Amino acid sequence: MKIALVGGTGDIGTGFALRWAANHEIIIGSRKADRALESAAAVIKLLGGSGNVWGADNASAIAAADAVVLCVPYEHLASVTSDLRSFYSGQLVISPVVPMSYNGKFFQFVPPKEGSAACQVRSLLPDGMRIVSAFHTISAAALQAQDRELKADVLICADEPEAVEQVSRLAMEVKSLRPLNAGPLQASAMVESLTPMLLNVARKNKIKDAGIRIVSER
Ligand SMILES: NC(=O)c1ccc[n+]([C@@H]2O[C@H](COP(=O)([O-])OP(=O)(O)OC[C@H]3O[C@@H](n4cnc5c(N)ncnc54)[C@H](OP(=O)(O)O)[C@@H]3O)[C@@H](O)[C@H]2O)c1
Repeated sequence: MKIALVGGTGDIGTGFALRWAANHEIIIGSRKADRALESAAAVIKLLGGSGNVWGADNASAIAAADAVVLCVPYEHLASVTSDLRSFYSGQLVISPVVPMSYNGKFFQFVPPKEGSAACQVRSLLPDGMRIVSAFHTISAAALQAQDRELKADVLICADEPEAVEQVSRLAMEVKSLRPLNAGPLQASAMVESLTPMLLNVARKNKIKDAGIRIVSER
């Protein structure tokens, strides 16, 4: 696939680029094309000089892609998504975005009126786009540690089974992530709300690069 990482110059974008470059063409997107090119060069260096990774402004990255991952902080999600709406034409859109805030004591889930970041994205993009909500509880630092095996689950919400399947395959390319279907896109709020909980637990209990795994007691 050709995968555009909107805001891919940041933490999670760098992690995805490092983990997916072996099997896909990665287009790092940025508000500034120069910054995207610098990030792409840095990723290629980290990969030891190989990898089909290039950089472009966010609009060009989206227009060139089969799949788009929204790697921007929640505060900028609505503007970035609506400003670039005209560059979408049937791409698979993946949202790892978590709407949350810190009140000085703990992180809390602060969803938009649509109920979740993923449902807000759906409301802002053209009708019929396949939106998938995934990767909210995967630590960017853990993704960036290229050789690290991640024992976490990726909880995925989407309305189209084939879109869930495509994102499950992407998750499985990151050793040893396990994709799990968490329901339709409308259920995304429950998955997104796990991240502030996870960060609170991680801080209180000094757990680095925390993740979530569903266990079976049988
Ligand atoms: N970090 C994690 O561990 C993690 C884990 C799971 C999910 N997530 C989610 O992934 C998303 C990205 O997180 P992150 O930690 O990678 O974020 P980040 O590093 O803080 O920022 C990502 C990129 O957003 C772009 N950006 C910043 N301000 C912007 C603005 N005003 N308008 C448009 N773009 C802007 C920047 O790219 P340019 O300056 O190059 O345009 C920046 O490099 C968030 O929604 C977060 O909830 C993060």
